[in-house]
Amino acid sequence: MKEEIINKIKKLKEEKDVVILAHYYVDGDVQELADYVGDSFYLAKVATKVKEANILFCGVSFMGESAKLLNPEKRVVMADDCADCPMAHMVTKERIAEVREQYDDVAVVCYVNSTAEIKSVSDVCVTSSNALKVVNNIPEKNIFFVPDNNLGRYIATKLPEKNFIFNDGFCHVHKSITVEEVKNAKEACPQAEVLTHPECTMDVLEISDFIGSTSEIIDYATSCNKKEFIICTEMGVFFELMQKNPDKKFYSVGHRQFCPNMKLVTLDKVLNALEEMGPEVTLPADIMETAKRPLERMLELAK
Ligand code: 13P
Ligand code: SF4
Repeated sequence: MKEEIINKIKKLKEEKDVVILAHYYVDGDVQELADYVGDSFYLAKVATKVKEANILFCGVSFMGESAKLLNPEKRVVMADDCADCPMAHMVTKERIAEVREQYDDVAVVCYVNSTAEIKSVSDVCVTSSNALKVVNNIPEKNIFFVPDNNLGRYIATKLPEKNFIFNDGFCHVHKSITVEEVKNAKEACPQAEVLTHPECTMDVLEISDFIGSTSEIIDYATSCNKKEFIICTEMGVFFELMQKNPDKKFYSVGHRQFCPNMKLVTLDKVLNALEEMGPEVTLPADIMETAKRPLERMLELAK
């Protein structure tokens, strides 16, 4: 049955000139058949280089929207358009306007986990893998970092010369990883290194050995000569970690390292999206124009 679905997907993908992009948090089955798998930054870059006329995105809405913004001429289809990141909605245009009123010299730095509407009123986008470099490369002293509080606070510790204004958005998956859980995991396995996504809370970051995006966590574990790792991010990364490192051991810290939105993406839905060539990502013309700029600026500043 699974084999049959995979064969149908492969056939339709060729016939309809579709490239499949998938984030590391979707199921291993879907990662396995995707043409490109990566973190948000990698996927945004890949989206600008693919030659196919159509992109099928296996991830959450903001990822599909970014692909569309960077490739207005391509059709971008989502495996499931209900897969949305709650954090993307945790700041408002009104709050951004309010902060702009308060400061002359302010840059609104928008984590890519945000809606296209929020991007349209931001100065530059960042992802977890390039935030430090991008913020360091912008001239403004005051940085309004939206929507994620934890990533903003982490970057602020690295750039004390900037004045950060924080927003109170968060990722429920990463926020649910507690310092007690990490300490328990370390006690159970003292030789393991703790690898953590910067969306986790500061107390968890403080006891981690390495902090990075999903790709950076995978690359670090792969190149490191240690054999055991405690992983503080969504469980989808275990697929690639184990593929690349069959001789190493990876431990989770609890039972909540699970993004329900990413897990909406299944092989059946990938097949359905290819058959229907929908649901398609569409954005109003004015948003297409304005929300593209901070993404392009990110690609430029992160080079
Ligand atoms: P990455 O950019 O590290 O892939 O993270 C995306 C995300 O949604 C984290 O929760
Ligand atoms: Fe959003 Fe968190 Fe899911 Fe990432 S893991 S898509 S930040 S809810």
